[in-house]
Formats: sequence, structure tokens, C-alpha cells
Amino acid sequence: MDWDLFLAPYKQAVDELKIKLRGYREQFEKTAEHSPIEFVTGRVKPVKSILDKARRKNIPLNQLQTSMQDIAGLRIMCQFVDDIKAVLQLIRKRTDLTILEERDYITEKKESGYRSYHLVVSYPVQTIGGERKILVEIQIRTLAMNFWATIEHSLNYKYEGRIPADIKERLQRAAEAAFLLDEEMSKIRGEVQEAQKHFALKKQVDFYDENN
Ligand code: GTP
Ligand code: MG
Repeated sequence: MDWDLFLAPYKQAVDELKIKLRGYREQFEKTAEHSPIEFVTGRVKPVKSILDKARRKNIPLNQLQTSMQDIAGLRIMCQFVDDIKAVLQLIRKRTDLTILEERDYITEKKESGYRSYHLVVSYPVQTIGGERKILVEIQIRTLAMNFWATIEHSLNYKYEGRIPADIKERLQRAAEAAFLLDEEMSKIRGEVQEAQKHFALKKQVDFYDENN
């Protein structure tokens, strides 16, 4: 199997979507509005990981294109939980991709403690042989969710998927702490916005008073 050739359209899709999604942030930076996107990362799954997962999930190599949804992967990091909804709205409006699946691991976290919102989309890439639709997995999460997932992923790697019970328990507590952090930040954000609204309103009233 020529992996370079096979993975080329996936790399194209990841590169294009990274630029397109980062474009949202640039647009928000030009306005005074809060950007629901903090940063965007993307990767093509390494060949070894593709082979490991194919073996684990019994996916024949000639069915990778239809059966492995995360060969191309994008990750969108947000400051606040509410930003995730805003990002979803932006993506739902796009005409250059089709959402095929949605998995909400925020309303219902995974047993490990993992939280994120997942989309599987079909994204057309223009190749020299014509248009090819590529499956792309987009994970949307807060910085706190990302911090937890990154640490848990490293531990899984270190322990080859068999994390000792005591560490698993600690991870569960860390997941709870990350959840509480997200909640507190949402409340603080609400306070800040409330104050700003109050201030804007007061300015309007003062302006009216001064001019009448
Ligand atoms: P995979 O075989 O891992 O793709 O799982 P799946 O097909 O059941 O899909 P799922 O939506 O559960 O997971 C897709 C991706 O989400 C994974 O490849 C990881 O990047 C991430 N993910 C899911 N569960 C966990 C978890 O418990 N911990 C971490 N760190 N990441 C997770
Ligand atoms: Mg998957």
C-alpha cells in the first residue's frame, strides 16, 4: 500500500479546513466580538495508529475510506462551554461540507470522564482525478476539556490502554475538577457580560441626560 498516495487527500482536507476554521477567529478579531474559537489544530492520523485501529476494530484496509472516520482530524478549542454551541452554528451554516454524524459527549460524558462534541463530516477535496469526498472528524471542546483529554491520552499511551485503578480514579476526579472549572468560568463570564451590558446602558442614559 502506498501510504503517501492514500493519505494525500486527507492531508489536503486537513490543511484546507485548518485555514478555513482559523479564518473564523481572524474575522472575530476584526470585530469587537468575543471569538468562540480560541485555536484550531489538525492532523492526519499516523500510519501506525491507522493500522493499530484497523486491527482493533476489524476494519479491512480496503475499507478505510468508508469505515475509519478520523484519518483526517480537526480540533477546535473554545474558552467557554457556550462557545461550543456558537461554533456548531457556524459549522452548520457552511456549504462546503456535510455533517454526517454528531456525538455529544458533553451532555453525556464518556465513562473515562472524557467530554467533547464530535462531528463527522464529509468534505470534498479537488484532486487531479476529480472531486473526492473525505471523512473528517471535528472535535470541539473547551480548553479545560482539552487539558484533561491530553493528559488522559498520554497516560493511556504510557500504560498501553491499561491505566492502573488508582490513577483512573484520580483522572475521574480531575475530570470533575475540569467540569467545575468550566462551570465557574461560565458564571464569571455571565457576570462580566452583565456588567458590560449594565455599563453600556448607563452610558446611553448618561448621554441622554447630558444632551436634554
Ligand atoms: P475511536 O475508536 O477512538 O475512534 O472511538 P469511537 O469510534 O467510538 O469514537 P469516539 O467518538 O468515541 O472517539 C473518537 C475520538 O475521540 C478518539 O479517537 C479520541 O480522539 C477521542 N476520545 C474518545 N474517547 C476518549 C477518551 O476517553 N479519552 C481521550 N483522551 N480521548 C477520547
Ligand atoms: Mg471514532
